Amino acid sequence: MAGPAASAPPRTQLVGIGAYLPARVVTNDELAQRVDTSDAWIRERTGIRQRHLAAPHESCAFMATAAARAALADAGVAAAAVDGIIVATATPDQAFPAVAVRVQAALGASGFGFDISAACSGFIYALSVADGMIRAGQARTMLVIGAEVYSRIMNWDDRGTCVLFGDGAGAVLVRAGEAGDARGSGVGEPGILSTHLHAQGDLGDILFVDGAVGQPDRPGHLVMKGNEVFRHAVTKLASAVSEALAVNGLDHNDVDWLVPHQANLRIIEAIGKRLGLAPDRVVVTVDQHANTSAASIPLALAQAYGDGRIKRGDLVLMEALGGGLTWGSALVRL
Ligand code: ACO
Repeated sequence: MAGPAASAPPRTQLVGIGAYLPARVVTNDELAQRVDTSDAWIRERTGIRQRHLAAPHESCAFMATAAARAALADAGVAAAAVDGIIVATATPDQAFPAVAVRVQAALGASGFGFDISAACSGFIYALSVADGMIRAGQARTMLVIGAEVYSRIMNWDDRGTCVLFGDGAGAVLVRAGEAGDARGSGVGEPGILSTHLHAQGDLGDILFVDGAVGQPDRPGHLVMKGNEVFRHAVTKLASAVSEALAVNGLDHNDVDWLVPHQANLRIIEAIGKRLGLAPDRVVVTVDQHANTSAASIPLALAQAYGDGRIKRGDLVLMEALGGGLTWGSALVRL
């Protein structure tokens, strides 16, 4: 975790953003042919209209690599400059090696790589770890990737979960700030202002996978008590966004964009309202991507940055809650 401090090293800057989505789009109507549901129910309860689902060749590492390449291209930085890769994922292709080292090999990068498991909060956790490592001087240029193939852990006969998730990957390139941009109290300087991580393990059984990666006879499916998760999401995320603003001495008027984890439009709108942000300052992609877990925040960031809504210099507040339960926030000046 990091908060502002006068003598702290320069902020970690977010210099590139990229994404990858599988080509195959599956509509609610298509799912209604498989389970007892309807486009109207899914849209009304969740805001989801469609999701992208991975083809067999679109592994977690494949999508993570494609998103990483896009982030590197956006930053104009060569893969050779990367000295660390973190992939946040709950759906790695194998128990090991980590997805991150598969990405490293595909990019021809060097340095270190590892995966982080914090379900839908994974990207926030990974960004926090990368920020800490960079400010501690352990790395200078890191890829932080969220990549998920939830279609492989869905029970496709359970209408309560299979309509909610999608596949995809998003990535950011983060880099050590220059010695000249020491943090001080200036919230106008680019970089990660703060991250906050939380977990409450005694809530592990309201959202979990009932098996393990790499066990063909028991691959595991996602199980969720949706209404309980919903209740915790609204209260815990509201307190996470308040915490991020209070630590930085900011209020909601200072935030240019909320880029929330995309699980449910009703949760997103509730947090936006608590923050007092106009709806057009809240990035929503759940309608197109559904819940892509650790990939959802970088995918949303890539979309709003790519279409010109989010600009360099904007203050962006990210928040997520997921299985664990885990939750947290990251406040970034782009
Ligand atoms: N189509 C039609 N009916 C359905 C469907 C469906 N796809 N799914 C459930 N229903 C029915 C239920 O069976 C139930 O019927 P009943 O009243 O006859 O028993 C009714 O709809 C209401 O079910 P609820 O689960 O209470 O519906 P709710 O309004 O809570 O919406 C939802 C469910 C969308 C899952 C919501 O609870 C939610 O979004 N929860 C939070 C999810 C979340 O934030 N997850 C965190 C991240 S995920 C991660 O970390 C991996």
